[in-house]
Amino acid sequence: MSDTLVHPEAPAAPEHVAIHRKDYRPPDWLVPSIALEVDLDPQRTTVRSRLMVTRNGDHGRALRLAGDELTPLEVRVDGDDADWVMDGNDLVVTIERDRAEVETTVALVPAANTKLMGLYASGGILCTQCESEGFRRIAFHPDRPDVLSVYSVRMTADRACFPVLLANGNLVAAGEAGGGLHWAQWDDPFPKPSYLFAMVAGDLQPNRDRFTTMSGREVELAIWVRQIDLPKTAHAMASLKAAMRWDEETYGREYDLDLFNIVAVDDFNFGAMENKGLNIFNSRYVLADQDTATDSDFDNIAGVVAHEYFHNWSGDRVTCRDWFQLSLKEGFTVFRDQSFSADMGSAAVKRIDDVRVLRAAQFPEDAGPLAHPVRPETYIEITNFYTATVYNKGAELIRMMRTILGDEAYRKGSDLYFDRHDGQAATCEDFVRAMEDASGVDLGQFRLWYSQAGTPLVDARLSHDRDAATATLELSQSIPDTPGQTGKAPMLLPLRTALIGSDSGEPIGEERLILLGTATTTVRFDGVTEPPLLSINRDFSAPVNLRVERRDGELERLAEVDPDPFARYEAGQELMYRVLLAGASGEAADTAPVIAAARGTLVSDTLDPAFKSEALSLPAESLIGDRMQWVDPEAIHRSRDTLRSAIGSELGELLAAAQAVGAAGHDLSPKAKGIRRLRSVALSLMAAGDPLRGAAAAKAQFDLADNMTDRQGALLVLASLDSPEREAAFDAFYIRYRDDSLVLDKWFALQAAAQRLDTIEVVEKLASHPDFTVRNPNRWRALVGNFAANQWCFHDPSGRGYRFLADMILGVDRINPQVAARQVSSLGRWRRLEPVRAALMQAELERIVQSPGLSRDVFEQASKSLA
Ligand code: PHE
Ligand code: ZN
Repeated sequence: MSDTLVHPEAPAAPEHVAIHRKDYRPPDWLVPSIALEVDLDPQRTTVRSRLMVTRNGDHGRALRLAGDELTPLEVRVDGDDADWVMDGNDLVVTIERDRAEVETTVALVPAANTKLMGLYASGGILCTQCESEGFRRIAFHPDRPDVLSVYSVRMTADRACFPVLLANGNLVAAGEAGGGLHWAQWDDPFPKPSYLFAMVAGDLQPNRDRFTTMSGREVELAIWVRQIDLPKTAHAMASLKAAMRWDEETYGREYDLDLFNIVAVDDFNFGAMENKGLNIFNSRYVLADQDTATDSDFDNIAGVVAHEYFHNWSGDRVTCRDWFQLSLKEGFTVFRDQSFSADMGSAAVKRIDDVRVLRAAQFPEDAGPLAHPVRPETYIEITNFYTATVYNKGAELIRMMRTILGDEAYRKGSDLYFDRHDGQAATCEDFVRAMEDASGVDLGQFRLWYSQAGTPLVDARLSHDRDAATATLELSQSIPDTPGQTGKAPMLLPLRTALIGSDSGEPIGEERLILLGTATTTVRFDGVTEPPLLSINRDFSAPVNLRVERRDGELERLAEVDPDPFARYEAGQELMYRVLLAGASGEAADTAPVIAAARGTLVSDTLDPAFKSEALSLPAESLIGDRMQWVDPEAIHRSRDTLRSAIGSELGELLAAAQAVGAAGHDLSPKAKGIRRLRSVALSLMAAGDPLRGAAAAKAQFDLADNMTDRQGALLVLASLDSPEREAAFDAFYIRYRDDSLVLDKWFALQAAAQRLDTIEVVEKLASHPDFTVRNPNRWRALVGNFAANQWCFHDPSGRGYRFLADMILGVDRINPQVAARQVSSLGRWRRLEPVRAALMQAELERIVQSPGLSRDVFEQASKSLA
């Protein structure tokens, strides 16, 4: 809507000022309470805000309130005209007394807000997004997370267009206001930082439910969506209740308000937002049914619903002192949602998936120009630091602390942390100290994980002395240099390690937790009478790169007998890497061990289908590239394709048999999901071996599917084939789902991910398809994000892919800088590519940096990528 409206104010020239963690100072003024009166209208909303402010400490400094694209209509202090000036975007108010009521009134145009920060319109709904610094787009405010206030909000709006009015906390009064208007008053008793403020107005319907907390309190739950989407909210509701119970049982955390509301909106920059008592979600993480959502969509919904719910304690009750501490809430909460999902399904498969994400997103980040510590030291635009490092590596840090301390001490530590810091804005250091105090374990060296960037590299070598019946494990670690950091100290790496007899296939002794804290060390194992296999970093206990000197046949055997599912999976992947890397550098490699392992996986009657599907999936092209000195996209693609077709043709019948097994679409049990997953993995390998047969099987799977998992799995295979079935299936899919925007995203995504010579052309055309829009982040990312992740096609030697991406980034930057900035990293790893491509990528980055009117967000990412 309102694409033609232009904001009254031209965007301010970006000030590219770096903020440093060491400069933190407590706020000059506190704001114990805030009353907002908001007259909502998409074309002109007015916000009258009354801040009760108190001087913090003994100083004479003025009150400085942040604003962004705000013009004050009125400023009053204790009811009188105030002494104020604008300093850039800041409103500076001189106040003589130690406490005062500061009232400001501003006007906004939500319909013209394309940044989706602050108050904006999405599909007829008015909603807010305030993290990190969006509240200043609604009202003048210190807008920093260490200023906590009690909010009272009165919303007024047209009743016909906006029958539902929601904000944080409890609904305390509501009524008619005349002229077709109505109002609602919401009070939130819990002090919170401004980034957790939220408001929604719209024509929404609730899916209502109830939850009885562990102490017997009744909580009313509601998921608010458009009427037509109500049938798609059951899974999110079930996930919410499961998450609430799990947090009680696992962390002793009980929900604290009488209401818990979730709202789904179509236009959203991230996944979802944990506003106190009123979580706002990207609709893709709420809406699902078997016809439109895949099993992984269902799993993602459960994970994100749980994540946002868990923030109620890890984020809202205990929040962050400053944005450098972001991982305090995000790393911890990701770890909590990972553990929840592991408990709800297969823990082993969940761990494999989480590690795959870590390796695909975080390891490259940590090895590239945008590498930063989990607790960054400096930023230009904080939104650029919602990264895989802060989130996913941050989660690994919490996981390592649990591994080091043990489950019981870890739980004592989290209890102490919540107790000690409830109602406060805390730091990463506070978290570690609570863990230390509760356990008595010194985490001094462990703290380096927060300050040193880069993925540690561990070398391991095992030798065996048959006569002495001992084995000796030599370990060493090093941490690569990253921008601004060299000469790093050794870190504390918890490595879960076991030896397995290569003859017997049986474990030798107990598993050990090796705490590698020095540059090198030696570990001795006794009672080792047969040649041992080394099973190390089990369950990926430390997020490191591992180089193990392997004996002939060791990986083959581990892939067969290691009882640790993760380590077993890893051994199989290592076998594949050997062949893939040899192939990519033009050497011949024996595919027999990989094929034998794949056969063993397929015929096993002990492995479950979900694990089988993991074990049969080849490493992604990008991961193969990460192990090469230079990324050669063409050679990697060819090598991977060759191995896939070798597996496909050798094991065609077994794959066809696996593909033939289905599960009823409505069955969402882990088993049924595993069967479907294996089915499409088998289909894909089968098609690699025999494209004709694969196309026919894929088309049949597509036509007969009673669920989106089978349908999308088939379409993904067809997408990269040259067959008449391909076009027919894509057309049918489009006609069936053209009015369902979340499914239409898949239609764009699948074409952008297709491995074909014409993908770049197709993608360029899709960018002017009538259903494409740069206003909707999901749609933009479906096309642009998936294309940029399609290594072989994106890195077309002509540079056409790079040019396309740079154009798309510059195009969206003028509308929504956050969306634009998140895609810059796809160009940012230019130094990893062979020189011709590297130069082309660099040139596009330079073109971006030199573009006039560039946002601060994109400037930071692009300039750091060139440095
Ligand atoms: N805090 C949100 C989460 O991870 C992410 C988010 C950040 C959403 C910024 C919107 C804006 O749960
Ligand atoms: Zn989060």
